[in-house]
Amino acid sequence: MNRMNLKQAVAKRRTFAIISHPDAGKTTITEQLLLYSGAIRQAGTVKGKKSGKFAKSDWMKIEQQRGISVTSSVMQVDYDGYQINLVDTPGHEDFSEDTYRTLMAVDAAVMVIDSGKGIEPQTKKLFQVCRMRGIPIFTFMNKLDRDGREPMDLVAELEEVLAIDAYAMNWPMGMGKQFLGLYDFYNNRVELTHPEENGDNDFLPLNEAGEVEGDYKFKESSIYTEALENAELMREAGNDFDKEAIAAGELTPVFFGSALTGFGVQTFLDAFVDFAPAPSAVDTVDEGEEVEPTDTELTGFIFKIQANMDPRHRDRIAFVRIVSGTFEEGMDVKVTRTDKKIKLNNTTRFMADSRENVEKAVAGDIIGLYDTGNFQIGDTIYTGKKAVAFPPLPQFTPELFMKVSPKNVMKQKSFHKGMQQLVQEGAIQLYRTWHSEEYIIGAVGQLQFEVFQYRLLNEYNSEVDMSPMGNKIARWISEEELDPKMSSSRNLLCKDIHGNPVFLFENTFAVNWFQGKYPDVHLETLL
Ligand code: G4P
Repeated sequence: MNRMNLKQAVAKRRTFAIISHPDAGKTTITEQLLLYSGAIRQAGTVKGKKSGKFAKSDWMKIEQQRGISVTSSVMQVDYDGYQINLVDTPGHEDFSEDTYRTLMAVDAAVMVIDSGKGIEPQTKKLFQVCRMRGIPIFTFMNKLDRDGREPMDLVAELEEVLAIDAYAMNWPMGMGKQFLGLYDFYNNRVELTHPEENGDNDFLPLNEAGEVEGDYKFKESSIYTEALENAELMREAGNDFDKEAIAAGELTPVFFGSALTGFGVQTFLDAFVDFAPAPSAVDTVDEGEEVEPTDTELTGFIFKIQANMDPRHRDRIAFVRIVSGTFEEGMDVKVTRTDKKIKLNNTTRFMADSRENVEKAVAGDIIGLYDTGNFQIGDTIYTGKKAVAFPPLPQFTPELFMKVSPKNVMKQKSFHKGMQQLVQEGAIQLYRTWHSEEYIIGAVGQLQFEVFQYRLLNEYNSEVDMSPMGNKIARWISEEELDPKMSSSRNLLCKDIHGNPVFLFENTFAVNWFQGKYPDVHLETLL
């Protein structure tokens, strides 16, 4: 692909993730997106809880048994001329690092909030990672077809709890049974849930005074006049619309609607593809050097490795976010870490209900590479003459720890193999006690342990004993400052996978006590 075509193709890419608390409506809104893009014909295809059918995002058996989505999946669809790459984040209350890392591969996030509940814990955690990256965040206040909380309260809570400015792009006229529609400032129109004229005129323009002209029944309702007043108030007292602040992730545009009935979803998506950024330049480890998406040499990084997605083919797939250039089936790339040349064959792209071979993909797209052990999380691949390395993906400080050992000492080998593989995939973090070298695994969510145990048994035939150590506060210390005598039962000294010393503190009290005793020692966290 020449540079001109590449530029056009990249400008049409929108790569994003949906963040939300479980049950806020992420799956339902994904379905609407797939419906509008023509990728599916019927709702209920993504997660057919009732029919017992599972879409490809529920790959692992453990997920099917529990009816949850543990691993993140990727879908590419065409929406209104845009190539949308939607990276799924697990819809479970339990976190995994996988969820966080997924957010490293996207250019924007859509935050779905249940208007009956407001900001919930998981949304807050995911939001913080988006904030740290400075990516734009679009808010969809969902479930307006039900009676929920006052829109003003919801927006105020959003601003307060998440410490971000909000700008309402539209305003609901009523809710629940009395949901008349949206008073849409951005598009200068009213969108009706129940069109009055011959059933097809659901958009009515606003005049200069911001009102709908003509005789309509809904105008007689106090709900309409109230919405007008609130809209006025928002315009006068609220934040200004500021495209740059949106792009920097400092202002979130807020949309109201109902994913279930599909009302307001298209209005939201249309604005989203307009405002959400196309792929942009990414920094490399070389100071001051960045890679532009329109550079013709291919570069990309691996943000996720997933083994055995399909039990019939015992495969392992490395997910690559393409940062620049064009991918073509059969091309040779180099892995920066190992300097090894690899031919990319049999590359996969993920659709709503199938996988298909990719022949071409460009910056912004996400492709899956069949992996036979060549890749690690955070690896850079490139085709140019000069080696490129993107910064390592952030590691997240685990909060939960378990001691782990193989049940059958005769099966040490498969235990070690499985452990090495799962650590390489980033499924779990591995530590050892400083002196006795006992294995300790760390996670940010309980479910990571269950998946670890399940996979060791099912994929490596290794049964393990796990003994919970509970919540710990992990703090790193430099070798120079370390004195092994500092270790006690309240701050167990361990080493991480690179051999760096780390203390596992019992609680914040223990951290404070330690800092009081050794005021000159620096303790560090990951993210
Ligand atoms: P999630 O992926 O964020 O976990 O949420 P999901 O879309 O699965 O939605 C959770 C529940 O909320 C589902 O109901 C879904 O139908 C409902 N829901 C989603 N959006 C809306 C909305 O706009 N209005 C209303 N009233 N409900 C909505 P469920 O009964 O738990 O699941 P199901 O058995 O219907 O699949």
